[in-house]
Amino acid sequence: MSTVVLDNVTKVYPGGHLAVDRMNLRADEGELLVLLGPSGCGKSTLLRMIAGLEDITAGELWLGGRHANHLAPRDRDVAMVFQNGALYPHRTVRGNISFPLEIAKTDPAVVRERVVELSRALHIDETLDRRPATLSGGQRQRVAMGRAIVRRPSLFLMDEPLSNLDAGMRTELRMEISSLVRALGVTTVYVTHDQIEALTLADRIAIMNRGVLQDIGTPGQVYNDPATAFTAAFLSSQQLNLLAADVRTPQNQFILLDFGPHQIRMNWTDPRAYAISQHTGSQIVVGIRPDALVPVPEYTEGPTFFGRVRTLEYHGHEWLAYLEAGIPAVVVPEPPDPRQARTGGGQEAGRSRSVVRRLLSGGNAAEDGEPAGPVPAGSGTHRRADLIVRLGARPVWRAGEHGRVAVDVSRLMLFTQDGHRIDPPRR
Ligand SMILES: Nc1ncnc2c1ncn2[C@@H]1O[C@H](COP(=O)(O)OP(=O)(O)O)[C@@H](O)[C@H]1O
Ligand SMILES: [Mg+2]
Repeated sequence: MSTVVLDNVTKVYPGGHLAVDRMNLRADEGELLVLLGPSGCGKSTLLRMIAGLEDITAGELWLGGRHANHLAPRDRDVAMVFQNGALYPHRTVRGNISFPLEIAKTDPAVVRERVVELSRALHIDETLDRRPATLSGGQRQRVAMGRAIVRRPSLFLMDEPLSNLDAGMRTELRMEISSLVRALGVTTVYVTHDQIEALTLADRIAIMNRGVLQDIGTPGQVYNDPATAFTAAFLSSQQLNLLAADVRTPQNQFILLDFGPHQIRMNWTDPRAYAISQHTGSQIVVGIRPDALVPVPEYTEGPTFFGRVRTLEYHGHEWLAYLEAGIPAVVVPEPPDPRQARTGGGQEAGRSRSVVRRLLSGGNAAEDGEPAGPVPAGSGTHRRADLIVRLGARPVWRAGEHGRVAVDVSRLMLFTQDGHRIDPPRR
């Protein structure tokens, strides 16, 4: 069994492309750690560095407590499954799964026993004598997993193993991977760009963007208390409302989040009040999930937003409403492309570097001796966007009507202009 530790691991591809930027990460014994992020953010690169298929440019990799930067792939005791698990076409399912054991000259009786045992667990015991060409995509992926896991590696690496399958098969195999990996107790690093896959499978999720770690925690932690606006938006199944608000503290009596035509009061008893009050006189970014806004009658007391219902959208299991509330919305704040930080010059590059550094250190601008300047170029562009509201199974409004929603202040996600959580970390 094995642990994985990455200490400031960086990958620069030949030609200067920075794919992974000072990644710090730990997968514990028997843990299922999911690496989540958009396409091109460096997930496969990271996984391939752990497997030994890609050189590490800088930083340290430890596998099971052993320094592994220069270990040959075959000495890492790692098995990997890829998106399109390539199989040996001329071998049967049995022959594919048993192949790694045959290479290792394992006792044929043990081989037989393990292949049968594993094929049952993977629900492919009926296909043992068939060739890959006669199998469905889901079955082929099960065989690939069987072949990877049959020699009982210390570490299991999976790179988007379900992304070529149709939705039904994905859900089915997802549950099976979860129970199989947990039954075996093998430490697993699982890469995906699908937030539902990450939330349902993971013990912990590490979210990446542009080669930089954004957040890490249990699914509940990263979903409910995201460290960055990027994480909040990426983990939302419906589009996240990201709004600009000015912070005011009138006569120090309470905190006012000023959304232009709407104001939301936050009492001093709110655990985040002090941290927010530090932003008095400046603008912050407020994230609100569509299900944290609840339609209420017109004369409702307490924090509310209101507007004209522009349109309703039917999603089968729920209705969403788009409410014209006249609130300035913001584009997801995210760090400038770090690749430009290394290759470009001038002020923009300097700023990029410091934003990346702050993201990594979790520090703030003031600590870095840098003024909390304007929102980085390309983000924070203010426009008026509709408020997206989850109505549930029945459309309680009609288009063109006036609608009012109650705001659950405890569920507001509060970020600085460059997208870092304002409240003090609770974990
Ligand atoms: N061999 C390579 N040479 C140069 N750039 C690469 C190479 N492999 C990947 N990249 C680049 O590195 C970035 C990260 O790629 P990758 O790790 O495959 O991302 P992901 O798996 O998250 O989609 C991408 O911008 C990709 O184009
Ligand atoms: Mg990839």
